[in-house]
Amino acid sequence: MQSILILNGPNLNLLGTRQPEVYGAETLEMVEARCLAHAKKSGFQAQCLQSNHEGILLDAIHGARGVHAGLVLNAGAFTHTSIALMDAIYSVEIPTVEVHLSNIHAREEFRHQSYIARAALGQICGFGSQGYLMAIDALVQNISQASDAT
Ligand code: DQA
Repeated sequence: MQSILILNGPNLNLLGTRQPEVYGAETLEMVEARCLAHAKKSGFQAQCLQSNHEGILLDAIHGARGVHAGLVLNAGAFTHTSIALMDAIYSVEIPTVEVHLSNIHAREEFRHQSYIARAALGQICGFGSQGYLMAIDALVQNISQASDAT
């Protein structure tokens, strides 16, 4: 069974209690459980990982090569700063969909810039936790199209 990695960055472990008016009331565990169930419906396995450390996120992306067919990434604030995460996505060549719970383009100017977006297939933001499921759907479609073409 093909697998998708759901990777969450800094402060996303605090979901549920962190600014619920911006990020919603669901905990990360709840969001991850919905991702696993949603991927399964499409015949995919999912693995979830959250870290507050950029290096651990980098190692997870490197380790995904040859293991996961796709990556859903909410890099949190590293989205706006991390050339290293962008380079990692370019390096492993795994189709990646960037997710944000909030609409980063409707918020402070410093959130409008995303290094991840340059390397990702696309970006989904502003739909709360539903965005993760939309990202899984986008990846499933992309992966199926790519395997149809070979
Ligand atoms: C976020 C948006 C980022 O700007 C912020 O730093 C986060 C969460 C989101 O999911 O809306 O930590 O990625």
